[in-house]
Amino acid sequence: MCDTANAADLLHWYDAHARVLPWRISPAAVNVAGTPPDPYRVWLSEVMLQQTTVASVKSYFERFTTLWPTVGDLAAAEDSQVMGEWAGLGYYARARNLLKCARVVAGDYNGAFPDTREALQNLPGIGPYTAAAIAAIAFDRSEVVVDGNVERVMARIHDIHTPLPAAKPALTQAAAKLTPKKRPGDYAQAVMDLGATICTPKSPACGICPWMKACKARARGTASELPRKTPK
Ligand code: ADE
Repeated sequence: MCDTANAADLLHWYDAHARVLPWRISPAAVNVAGTPPDPYRVWLSEVMLQQTTVASVKSYFERFTTLWPTVGDLAAAEDSQVMGEWAGLGYYARARNLLKCARVVAGDYNGAFPDTREALQNLPGIGPYTAAAIAAIAFDRSEVVVDGNVERVMARIHDIHTPLPAAKPALTQAAAKLTPKKRPGDYAQAVMDLGATICTPKSPACGICPWMKACKARARGTASELPRKTPK
């Protein structure tokens, strides 16, 4: 462990503690360790996770990928069946864009998702965050992925007390500085896992954090107060 936060310490922790989530495993990886994740599964999971928790998404993800194992299968599905399977996840515009996107990828891209953030962001339902997440996780591009977990972790490491949303540029800059060239996809998911399991909003488990030594908020006892938010 190092006195400044770095990707290597987090990746070392991730190698031992990564959550086992269905979209992190490609069907082909059952027998072959190290097979990269399937972009279709990464995209589907990221769209489902846009406004829904990991715990709720898991069963929907399993059902969708059983019914439609490839983007071509999903593109060919009846709208009404897809909307029906989506019921319960909410935010139905996501499901409509999901189908639109599947049909563009199947029709215009021959079933292969484009592999850059810029191209991904032109697809229906894929905004800047989701494009960066897919580019990093599915294509190992060194993109900066900033969600609520990442903002919390960065605010604590640097003990940033500026409230959100004003703190966003500083938190994004901090995230960019830490994003590695090697294993950026694993790194992006490692920060998410850290935020979900250790650097939690309430009662963070600082004593077992891989970035414990580097964390300014831990040293100053401010972790559970951060990030601050401007009252609505
Ligand atoms: N939230 C958004 N994307 C995620 C992912 N790939 N793993 C875990 N949580 C997430």
